[in-house]
Amino acid sequence: MKILSSVENESILRASLALNKGQLVAFPTETVYGLGADASNEKAVKRIFTVKNRPFTSPLIVHIADATSVHKLAEDVPDYVQKLTNDFWPGPLTLILKKKSSVSNFVTGNQKFVGIRVPKNIFALEMLKEFEKFGKYGVAAPSANRFQSVSPTTGQDVFEELGDKLDSNDLIIEDGQTLIGIESTIIYCGKKYVQVLRPGAITQSMLEKSIPGLVKIKKEIKIMSPGNHKKHYSPKAKIVFDRAAEPGWGYIALNNIPTPPKVLRLASPRNSAEFAKILYLSFRNADRLGIKTVLVQIPSTGKYREALADRVLKAAGINKK
Ligand code: TXA
Ligand code: MG
Repeated sequence: MKILSSVENESILRASLALNKGQLVAFPTETVYGLGADASNEKAVKRIFTVKNRPFTSPLIVHIADATSVHKLAEDVPDYVQKLTNDFWPGPLTLILKKKSSVSNFVTGNQKFVGIRVPKNIFALEMLKEFEKFGKYGVAAPSANRFQSVSPTTGQDVFEELGDKLDSNDLIIEDGQTLIGIESTIIYCGKKYVQVLRPGAITQSMLEKSIPGLVKIKKEIKIMSPGNHKKHYSPKAKIVFDRAAEPGWGYIALNNIPTPPKVLRLASPRNSAEFAKILYLSFRNADRLGIKTVLVQIPSTGKYREALADRVLKAAGINKK
């Protein structure tokens, strides 16, 4: 595997060539790094599952360069989807839509639906555009970590997660720390309503403002939803959130919360957005430092509170669903 810098002129072309040849390319997005493959290449997509040690039934998000390609992947697309893509793409919003028969089952885990997203990262967008010049569209990419581990937010993290599993012609693009730090919001797009399956930077109230009256609060749908596995997004350290700190533990809290005695403060974000940005990074630092338990004080206010509660609870092995 080779690590390329996103700022090198040739990296965009080399990444799209590698994808076209069926290699894997770990690339930055604004949320977390993805492990990409040509969505139409079965052999390449299958390698994603092997490299991550991920079950084949778990569907992959298809990344596209712009909203016009939605109709190449999905059918019966509800009218309100155009409003959503205008308002939030490129950006951290994944749409679950009815798939066209041309979209392979090995991408969607045999489901009738496909997850689609236009990421807001310059390198990712340029790479996806360049890839389309081969007459292809769609890069299937899950987060570039081992199954049930923490999503990577730097190229270095990807290397540490998957470096030994990638082969000599695969690529990792180093683009530094991602802007948001946690995965995209995922919404199911039904005929008459949408429903949030995974909270993220695009919040329920932002969706409600964009398409008033169409966002369902109550969970009703039966399609397989993200993070159904009991433990998810977990570092080696045990994550706790609902008890008092003990000596020797790692500690993550907003900067206005004082550090309890004898704990190691891993981060002091100033608001919920900063909290999201440092969460996985702090989990990784805890593991690097050999910390056994990390206490996370989940912020009770702020735009990212819901997404943070979701990720921390999953890291702690608690599944609300
Ligand atoms: O921010 C993100 O979404 C990142 C970047 C790389 O785009 N990707 C990401 O992918 O987090 P992944 O595979 O780690 O998580 C995507 C979740 C999975 O839990 C999967 O089950 C769900 O989305 N998903 C994908 N396609 C789906 C579909 N057709 N139906 C239901 N769930 C789907
Ligand atoms: Mg993931």
